[in-house]
Amino acid sequence: MKLLLTGSSGWLGRHLAPRLEAIGHKVIGLDIAPGDHTDIVGTVADRTLIDKTFRGHGIEAVIHAGALHKPDIVRYPNSAFVDVNVTGTLNLLEAAVQAGHDRFIFTSTTSLMISETVRAGREGGAEQAFWLDEEFGPLKPRNIYGVTKISAEHLCRLFHKLHGINVAVLRTGRFFPEDDDTLIMPSGPNLKANEFLNRRLTVEDAAEAHVVALNGIADLGFETFILSAPTPFGRTDCAQLIANAPAVIARYYPEAKALYDKKGWILPDHIDRIYDAGKAERLLGFRSKTDFASILAALAEEREPPFHHDPHYLSPKEAL
Ligand SMILES: NC(=O)c1ccc[n+]([C@@H]2O[C@H](COP(=O)([O-])OP(=O)(O)OC[C@H]3O[C@@H](n4cnc5c(N)ncnc54)[C@H](O)[C@@H]3O)[C@@H](O)[C@H]2O)c1
Repeated sequence: MKLLLTGSSGWLGRHLAPRLEAIGHKVIGLDIAPGDHTDIVGTVADRTLIDKTFRGHGIEAVIHAGALHKPDIVRYPNSAFVDVNVTGTLNLLEAAVQAGHDRFIFTSTTSLMISETVRAGREGGAEQAFWLDEEFGPLKPRNIYGVTKISAEHLCRLFHKLHGINVAVLRTGRFFPEDDDTLIMPSGPNLKANEFLNRRLTVEDAAEAHVVALNGIADLGFETFILSAPTPFGRTDCAQLIANAPAVIARYYPEAKALYDKKGWILPDHIDRIYDAGKAERLLGFRSKTDFASILAALAEEREPPFHHDPHYLSPKEAL
């Protein structure tokens, strides 16, 4: 297919574009910043540019990954989030419907599921970890990033209802390579490794989920999927996870503590949210390849952990 990939210069885009091309798609990359996989430098907020791109390249489907996201909150005004994340998504949906597309893939975020209450977790008085699947709600995003992403999700749902276009909304967990901008302990690779228990996946798995969704959504209608590495935990673990996570982790991975000690890493003392990626597996047949067990296997074999860590990663638009 001839695909329009937005955000093609970004961290996800630069992993996804070659993967799509390897299986025979023609990818037209559009991004505000130049990059190896970007053919058109411009903004999704520019409807004229989007129309010209659709006409000029005979676009047959869109993967919409370009966005202002969490680290951009301190860099851009609220109105820029609305322009890019809401108006940009609307432009693409309208162009896709006009062109008669049968499918649309929207990269969303698990971040929009995090209200102030969920974020406060144990410190806010929660007695058990929040189990976050696609049914979780009511959703009350806590920042402009989440508010504009949930608005874009609503546009996707509306366009499916009005025009029948099949849409996969991929609420993606963390895959960024840089350090967390709020947590300092533990830091770096240790924090990332811990997050594979409940809220992270590799960028390669995130890219692959988009490939699978592009095929799978064609006859599914409108569906939302959480993407994260498969968690070992179940709902019955939620109370103990918030009280004593190492005890729960030891039940599933008895070897974890010794392997972590050897590396000088620490396990989380509590876990207050778990993303359940089961629906993507049930409906799309997608399951992340890299999980917490893969990380322990790397530690046991004294290999590098199987994920990217780059404290200096900066979205390419910031280098303009
Ligand atoms: N990184 C994560 O952990 C994470 C987690 C959940 C969801 N996401 C989502 O994944 C997608 C990709 O994020 P990423 O991590 O690769 O970030 P990134 O910043 O590396 O890539 C995003 C790209 O979007 C481009 N972009 C920004 N404004 C644009 C505009 N107006 N028009 C066209 N392109 C524009 C940027 O230039 C950038 O190249 C985003 O939609 C983000 O919300 C990311």
